[in-house]
Amino acid sequence: MKANKEQWSSKFGFIMAAAGSAIGLGNLWKFPYIAGTSGGAVFVVVYIIFLLLLGIPILLSELAIGRFAGSNAIDSCAKIHPKWGFAGAFGVIGAFGVMSGYCVVGGWVIKYIINSFTDTNMGADYFTEYSSKSFEPILWMAVFLIITCLIVTGGVSNGIEKVSSVLLPTLVVFLFGIMIYSLTLPNAIEGVKFFLVPDFSEITSFSDFMTILFNAMGQVFFSLSLGMGTLITYGSYLPEDNNLASSTITIVTLDTLIAIVSGLAILPAVFSFGFEPTEGFGLMFRTLPAVFSQMSGGTVIAALFFILVLFAALTSSISLLEVIVSWVCTNTRLTRAWAAAIISALIFIAGCFASLSVGAIPDIKVGSISLFEFFSFFTDKIIMPLGGFFICILTGYVWGIDKAAKEISNNGRLKFAMKKLFSVTVRYIAPFLIAVIFVTSIADIA
Ligand code: ALA
Repeated sequence: MKANKEQWSSKFGFIMAAAGSAIGLGNLWKFPYIAGTSGGAVFVVVYIIFLLLLGIPILLSELAIGRFAGSNAIDSCAKIHPKWGFAGAFGVIGAFGVMSGYCVVGGWVIKYIINSFTDTNMGADYFTEYSSKSFEPILWMAVFLIITCLIVTGGVSNGIEKVSSVLLPTLVVFLFGIMIYSLTLPNAIEGVKFFLVPDFSEITSFSDFMTILFNAMGQVFFSLSLGMGTLITYGSYLPEDNNLASSTITIVTLDTLIAIVSGLAILPAVFSFGFEPTEGFGLMFRTLPAVFSQMSGGTVIAALFFILVLFAALTSSISLLEVIVSWVCTNTRLTRAWAAAIISALIFIAGCFASLSVGAIPDIKVGSISLFEFFSFFTDKIIMPLGGFFICILTGYVWGIDKAAKEISNNGRLKFAMKKLFSVTVRYIAPFLIAVIFVTSIADIA
């Protein structure tokens, strides 16, 4: 019998929740700025190749493991093989690490919503000024965590599914509108070229090339919520008759669509207003207020946009918190509410240091980077790729393709046309790519 008693109430609800987990700050905030710092269109091309070679097979494997085992990330992997719980542990650690930085950005988004209502001038320097403050960013970060915690306490179909089903479609429509506006700005075409027309001549060394591969791989993991246990956990709430392969394709398509649309909403504006695409993590916060300030009714649009970003961030943060809560609830006597509260408190502590490291106390560093950036490096570049690597080995060799395919085809009731392709990618291509990129890049950095 499955350890999880909760289930998604509808296929649509599950897709919205899983796509909601994938679609978040990773698409709206991170994708444009990582593309900006990693060579633009070349990065986008590599990203799409990695989606096919790594993203789809790992996502499908995670859903299959979760539904088969019906438990949290660690216990599900251990159910496949008692010695393999560690593969899921990467997910739990990854979820904690991601949340420690994610809540900081979630807090910034809340502040930007409030500023939009109060008509505060959010000129280009505002972001640096605000994110360097000590107390206020922590306050809004706490609000973000409290909302996340309350939704997770509400449970799977009551909390997570209902919220995602309404918010995600609204976000899609709204983002398209902003993209169309950005594309009409003067000089927008330069941003479109930067984002969509690859210029390989910009890559002048092997190290540059590896950096792009490393960044693209990390972004695939981050954006699809892979190697952080969420898809195993969400898969565990799936009913037996869900078509895992088609759900995977839908989730990846929606996630990619939103990332590309975000890029097309932000990068043309970056060029139009003369900002630098290599700006880093402040890119969205600096650029979009400039766009909104040009629009008639810009204040309202800014407020609505940041509200939707907040919702997208929440549908991801609840999935991240759920990974840890579901593991704690299964293995301790804590109730869901207590587990969510205690874990949120721990994330809050880590988040405080991350927030302060952005500007108020810049000495909070790991090596040469701030703690905030280190959380991102540690999760996207280390924990999640390693987690993904072990998920591939677990699925492809320990569990075995035939058993995984049996789960994916609902015990043979559905046709699993891509079984061969799945087998080759999970057993060979994905683990090989992850290992080579990981080892080469870490050696380059060290
Ligand atoms: N996948 C989530 C996001 O992209 C974490 O925001």
